[in-house]
Amino acid sequence: MTDLTGKVALVTGGTRGIGLATVRALAEAGATVVLTGRDEAKAKEAAGSVEGQVSGLALDVTDAKAVSTVVRGVAKEHGQLDIVVANAGVLEDALLGMIKEDLIDRMLSTNVAGTLHTVQAASRAMMRKKTGAIVVLASIVGEKGSAGQTAYAASKAAVGNIARSASKELGRYGIRVNGVAPGVIETAMTEHLGEEIIAGRIEDTSLRRLGKAEEVAKAIRFLVSDEASFVTGQILGVDGGLVL
Ligand SMILES: NC(=O)c1ccc[n+]([C@@H]2O[C@H](COP(=O)([O-])OP(=O)(O)OC[C@H]3O[C@@H](n4cnc5c(N)ncnc54)[C@H](OP(=O)(O)O)[C@@H]3O)[C@@H](O)[C@H]2O)c1
Repeated sequence: MTDLTGKVALVTGGTRGIGLATVRALAEAGATVVLTGRDEAKAKEAAGSVEGQVSGLALDVTDAKAVSTVVRGVAKEHGQLDIVVANAGVLEDALLGMIKEDLIDRMLSTNVAGTLHTVQAASRAMMRKKTGAIVVLASIVGEKGSAGQTAYAASKAAVGNIARSASKELGRYGIRVNGVAPGVIETAMTEHLGEEIIAGRIEDTSLRRLGKAEEVAKAIRFLVSDEASFVTGQILGVDGGLVL
């Protein structure tokens, strides 16, 4: 199994779903993990549900200053920051003609600006030590597009390009930046999809099922581990062969 003993990791949006599964996977491999969510009590409760060295903090990733403060604080408290997973994200569906300004704002401020704040703060904390691994959460929707998800698709395409561009800047500092592009994963985020849509997605997936948060978490754990020491600027599909 991947060994992350002695590593310090931060996972944004770690209170449930893919984020919480990632916290579990990293802690299981021996990492000390700090998870964040918008509500402090929920973050602490989620941290308490995982075995290992795990703590929870409040953080809204749309707030650049707060992201910088939390990332610097974690690096200072633990003396290092080796792994950052910029996982926090939101999804709201709307057909093109129904998209309102505030929906666009929410998609862009959380998914795009939130990821950018996190990657920026992580790179600053990692640069001094000239080592580190960052993973962002893109989506197959960001690569292929999806009817009813234009705003989300645009935001996730941007997330993929944050990883690609940051990897080009940060490679010289020994910092690797990659992304995962999940297909349809069973979490709170996809609960609103109706039975018909889910059946259609399963039909379009080679493995003929939805994915599990743990399966995305394992791919993230690979990318942040030394097993992926020469992998950077990549967006790894974790989609069961979904064709959109
Ligand atoms: N599920 C899928 O099929 C799928 C597919 C492709 C990509 N993804 C991506 O994978 C990531 C995780 O998705 P999920 O399915 O696990 O979603 P989820 O169950 O809805 O969890 C989202 C997480 O993000 C946090 N969050 C939301 N807005 C935030 C903000 N402004 N600041 C800080 N944290 C915030 C939430 O925490 P609080 O509510 O506690 O603040 C929660 O922990 C997202 O980026 C999503 O776009 C998911």
